[in-house]
Amino acid sequence: MALVYLNGQFCAPEQAAISPMDRGFLFGDGLYEVVPSYNGQFVGFTLHIHRLNNGLAELNIAGTPTLEEWQNICRRVLDSHEETNLGLYIQVTRGVVAQRGHAYPSATVKPTVFVYAFPIPTPRSAEITSCTPYRVVTQQDQRWQRCDVKTTSLLGNVMHYQHGREQHSDETLLFNPRGQLTEASTSNVFVLCGETVYTAPLDNQLLPGITRHILLDLLHADKKFKVIEQAVDKAQLAAADEVWITSSSREVVPVISIDGVPVGCGEIGPGWLHAFKLYSQGKFNY
Ligand SMILES: Cc1ncc(COP(=O)(O)O)c(C=O)c1O
Repeated sequence: MALVYLNGQFCAPEQAAISPMDRGFLFGDGLYEVVPSYNGQFVGFTLHIHRLNNGLAELNIAGTPTLEEWQNICRRVLDSHEETNLGLYIQVTRGVVAQRGHAYPSATVKPTVFVYAFPIPTPRSAEITSCTPYRVVTQQDQRWQRCDVKTTSLLGNVMHYQHGREQHSDETLLFNPRGQLTEASTSNVFVLCGETVYTAPLDNQLLPGITRHILLDLLHADKKFKVIEQAVDKAQLAAADEVWITSSSREVVPVISIDGVPVGCGEIGPGWLHAFKLYSQGKFNY
């Protein structure tokens, strides 16, 4: 039977219940991670837990599992499923309070810890024919100033993503008020211009994506492309040869049109194929 984990217990999903006084429900006061696994092998597990721990420290949430405890919890949830390719959803909130109030409650309040797994598609083979490219739109980023924190308060992201869907597109790329491309509503963005790959540097305007981290590391080691962590502006984006988005669940996806205008020649490019081959071959080393 497929199990979920909630606060020390493994149980059927319908038996897992959370109080409406949980600060995750009341304030979105919590963090999450999504970790992919293929045939029981995780991609970037330690990197995901490290990012979670950074966020927890930032929010002063203590008393969460150690890396080894996370591994045991996640392994048991995975093993309770029959499917071989699973995404793990991990959520930690500040916990349940007696009274609603903005201030952090006393340290005696224990965090709520939840893990469940959901089936994900078999990874695509690294071939142009097995890839469905994205068509995307752009918007000015309307979210808060701490997009580096992977909070469950995702309404800004949800609204940007929904805007894209309503335009019959697959994702929404986001520009800051200075007209620089930072990330997208649910993914990081890479831009290939000639032999140089650009992606925005890590700061408060974007999530430090684990797929971004892995791909950057692989591109640096590979040396085919020059890699620069620098945000591109609208003119540079319009002149790009290729654009790719990255996220744990979608890996590396080529973008062939932005706001209805073709990227490069409007087809999946050889740069994406090279990058995706690197990612496919290297991802389990993280
Ligand atoms: C806003 C945003 N940026 C980037 C990413 C990509 O992060 P990762 O590669 O860790 O999945 C995500 C994934 O959820 C995201 O929501």
